[in-house]
Parts: sequence; C-alpha cells; structure tokens
Amino acid sequence: PWTMTDPQLVLTERVQRALGAAFGAEYSDADPLIRPSQFADYQANVAMSLSKRLRRAPREVAQEIADRLSADSAFPATVEVSGPGFLNITLDDSWIAGRAAESLADPRSGVGHTTPPQTVVIDYSAPNASKEMHVGHLRTTIVGDALARMLEHLGNRVIRQNHIGDWGTPFGMLIEHLLDIGEQAALARLEAGESSEYYKEARAKFDSDPEFKQRSRRRVATLQAEDPETMRLWHLFMDATIRYFDKVYAMLGVTLTDEDIAGESMYNPMLARTCDDLEAAGAAVVSEGALCVFPPGFTGSDDKPLPLMIRKSDGGYGYATTDMAAVRYRVNDLKADRILYVVGADQALHFRMIFAAARMVGWLPDTVSAEHVQIGMMLGTDGRRFRTRSGETVKLTDLLDEAVDRARAAIADRGYDEATQGEIAHAVGMGAVKYADLSVSHDTEYVFDFDRMLAFSGNTGPYMQYATARIRSIFRKGGIDPATATGTITLGNPAERALALQLLGFGAVVEQAAALAEPHRLCAYLFETASAFTTFYENCPVLKADVDEAVRASRLALCALTLRVLETGLDLLGVPVPERM
Ligand code: ARG
Repeated sequence: PWTMTDPQLVLTERVQRALGAAFGAEYSDADPLIRPSQFADYQANVAMSLSKRLRRAPREVAQEIADRLSADSAFPATVEVSGPGFLNITLDDSWIAGRAAESLADPRSGVGHTTPPQTVVIDYSAPNASKEMHVGHLRTTIVGDALARMLEHLGNRVIRQNHIGDWGTPFGMLIEHLLDIGEQAALARLEAGESSEYYKEARAKFDSDPEFKQRSRRRVATLQAEDPETMRLWHLFMDATIRYFDKVYAMLGVTLTDEDIAGESMYNPMLARTCDDLEAAGAAVVSEGALCVFPPGFTGSDDKPLPLMIRKSDGGYGYATTDMAAVRYRVNDLKADRILYVVGADQALHFRMIFAAARMVGWLPDTVSAEHVQIGMMLGTDGRRFRTRSGETVKLTDLLDEAVDRARAAIADRGYDEATQGEIAHAVGMGAVKYADLSVSHDTEYVFDFDRMLAFSGNTGPYMQYATARIRSIFRKGGIDPATATGTITLGNPAERALALQLLGFGAVVEQAAALAEPHRLCAYLFETASAFTTFYENCPVLKADVDEAVRASRLALCALTLRVLETGLDLLGVPVPERM
C-alpha cells in the first residue's frame, strides 16, 4: 500500500491493466518488472518474461502492450519498444510537475500511512548496567531510534522497550562493592559512566577475597528474595546507572525515556511460570538436570539437537528465560503485531532459537512478525574490535564529546559567536556519528572513523546537514518564508525535471525503509536528493535578477519541497539540522 505518487507504483498499476486488457485477466497481476533505466525514466521487462507463456515473440508482445498503453489516456508517460522487447517509459513532464505540486501541498510530502496501523514493539539500545555502555550499544540505540521514528511517522503504534541488563548474579558483588566504597562515592562514579572500572574492581575483589566472594553470594540470594534493604541498594545502583544512560541519550537526541525501560529485572517475577508453562506444554524437557527447549531445526556440530537452556541445573534462570518471558509479554500484553530486536549480529543464533521456541509453543503466532535487526560489529580504524589505544573499551560520553570537539574545530574559521558555534558543533558532531551508523546497512561490520564521518562531502551527516542549511539560506537571502513558496511547478530544464522526479520517491522510500527495517535506504535516497538538488542549483538560478517571475516561483517551490523532504527525512533518522552552518 505505498503512496500513489510513487511513479514506479503508478506505472506498475497502469501496465498491469494493459496486460489484463491485452492478454486476459489472468495476466493482470503479472509483475511488469519496472526498473529505473538509463535510456528512459524506467524500463519494463515484462514482455520478455511473458513471451514464453504467450508463445509469441517478445517484441510483438512488447508492441501490443505499448499500443494499449498509448491508447490509455490515464497513462502518464510515453512508451517505446526497444531492443529485443524492452519497454522504455518516459513520464510526462506535466504529470511529474503535477505530482510534485501535490506533494508540496501535502504536509506529509507524499508519505502515507501504514494501513491498517500496526503495533510495533522495538527492543533497542539495551545496555548492561554491570558493564560500560559501549559503542556496540551506540549503534543499537541509533538504528533502533531511527526505526522507531519512521514507524511512528507512518502512523503505527510504536512501543519502545529498552531491555537493559539490570539483573543477575553480578549484582551481588556490585552491591557489596557499593557498600565497601560508600554509597555516595559509588553513585557519583556510576553516574559519571565509570561502571566498567567499577565492575572490574568488584570482579578483582571477588576473585581474590574469599570473604567478599561469600558476601556477594549471600547478596545474590537476598536480591533474588527481594529483601527490602537489598532492593534499596539495587535501586540506588540502577538509578545512578540509568542517569548515565540518560546523559548519553540526551546528547544523542534519542527518543528513549525512562518510561521505555523494560529491563531483565522486570521479567524476573515471570520466570518461574515461564518455565512451568513451557514444561507443562511439553515444549521444555529436563536434560542433564537443566530445563531445555529443543526447537526443531537446530543442531550442534555433533548433529545433536541444540538446547535452548531456560533453567540451569542449579535452578538459576538465564538470558534465554528472560527472552521467552519477554516474547510472551510483548504478544499478550503489549499486543504486538511486529517485534523488532535491534541487537548485535553475534546474537543471531540466540534469537533464531527464541523465535522458533516461541512459535513452537504458540506464544508467537504466525500473525506476529519477529525480526532480529542484526547490528554488525564496530571496528576501530585498525580493523579490530573498537577500543582505545590502551586497549580499554571506550567510554561513550568521551567518544561523543570528541565528536563535538572535532566538529567545533572543523567550523572554527566560519566566524560564528561562541554560543552559535557550540550549537552547530553539537549538531554536526552528533549528526556525523549518527548518520555514519545509519548510512551503511545495519548488519555490516563498521569502522568507527572520525575523519570519515566528519567529512563535509560524500554520504555523511555533515554533508546532508550542509545541503539542508544551504537551501534554508536561499530562502533567507531572498527574504522568503519556505511555507509560502507554493507556486505552480514547470519543468523547463532537465535538472528541474530530475529533481522533481527524485522528490516523488520520498513516500515509497520511507515505507520501504520501515518495512525492511533498513534506515540506510532512506540515507541513500536523501543523499541522491541532495545531489539532484546540487545539479539543479548549478544549472537553474533561483534568485538572480533576470529570472522570469513564474520560473522563479516554480524553482522556489522545488527548493521548498526539497527542503521539506530533507528536513523530514533527517528528522526521521534522528539527525539534527543546525539552522545555519
Ligand atoms: N543487554 C543485551 C546485550 O547487551 C541486549 C539485550 C537485547 N534484547 C533482548 N531482548 N535480548 O547484549
């Protein structure tokens, strides 16, 4: 159900009608195979694929389709047969101009609504309180947030779920360490993002000090029993940690709030029942003392069925138990139609097994889609796992501060006052980091490289921000409010035509990026749009004195639509655009 301004869809619909009229109703749902072409706007390859079925020469079939299309007064294009039977399709300028004007008049710029709207649960960010929030979580946060924004914009009910790691045996030693160093000191450090060092200290004591080890184990027991004093300490620990997460989210401009936190601890009270119900349903069996589900189709290297362990032989629950409880909660309580798990690619097997186990026991019905949006590993410029020079993991706030500092240095010579420079540097720094994450497909490994992400040319955040700010400056210079640029669009120059045609694809690309959970498609589209605008602006003066009144109005309308598409698109990606650059 993509928007009807999308040329490819409009053409597909008309060609299918022609197929039905020419060869009978059974042909009216054949895929016309319409693709962008270098010889015309589009090329349809359907004649070749139908010729066998029709037992006629491809060129003859193509000619018959072309004749039907030419006779169709609603067909917004001219069509020519070429080569062995291609249909070359060139849209009418008036049609493109009319659709562009419609898109400009539409506050949504041609982006439709998912019908019917879906309830989409998006599990993203999900840092662990027992370790530092690291660059891997940066990427799950940024990609997840872009998906949330896009799906919401399409009218879906989006439920964000931040599945933080806030429960389990490490919390025994983490709480004991908090008592050892004093509540205030510990909380200050956690809030500053020092959980990694904190964890290491606790771990070292645990490994070397038998008394500490014993205390920690006792603490795990009182935590499991939800003893009030232990819970008070756990809450102190978590609140300070979450304040640090919130600092990172605020810097990034991520839409997650504390309301979206649904961490592992939330599922703790459901775990016993999760296991009991799985066992009662015959889906889980005891194997070597542990309770396991053996979802069909999973075997280990020894060809033995692979277990999904939901209760260890010592009675403890694990990561998989929580995820089984979470699937059930998301389907039954949150009423999800679609669940996206924006999590590292290294957890692919875990999620395939969780989904298979949940389907097997009926907790994940066929009507609900569960998708692991795999996030590729972050690498350093040396091609290895991303770390600082000293080999430590990188603290996120430091990394983000560095992005802002570098952005500030890059714009230092532009003559802005201190405050404006600070604002621009923040937007450019965060925009660079975010766009870099979003512009490559989410499952590829990804090299974190400040120089590349902060470049002002190419498919980067700063370039996209600059391209947008530049259009704003056209309106500023002309003393014109873009909202009033609603003139009739005429397409006299090929660069105007190419830009207008490009702008018509916005709605379809947003829907496609959301449907496939692939924000990089939107990035690629916005980059092409900015490039089409550059060519237009080089060839088509807008504000120059000798430009005819009507031509100027038409060009301003194209500028206004381009601006809105870029602004909306970048907002859907969560990339901020500074007012000027
Ligand atoms: N906290 C986990 C990690 O850092 C990610 C959790 C993802 N969500 C889930 N439902 N398992 O690896």
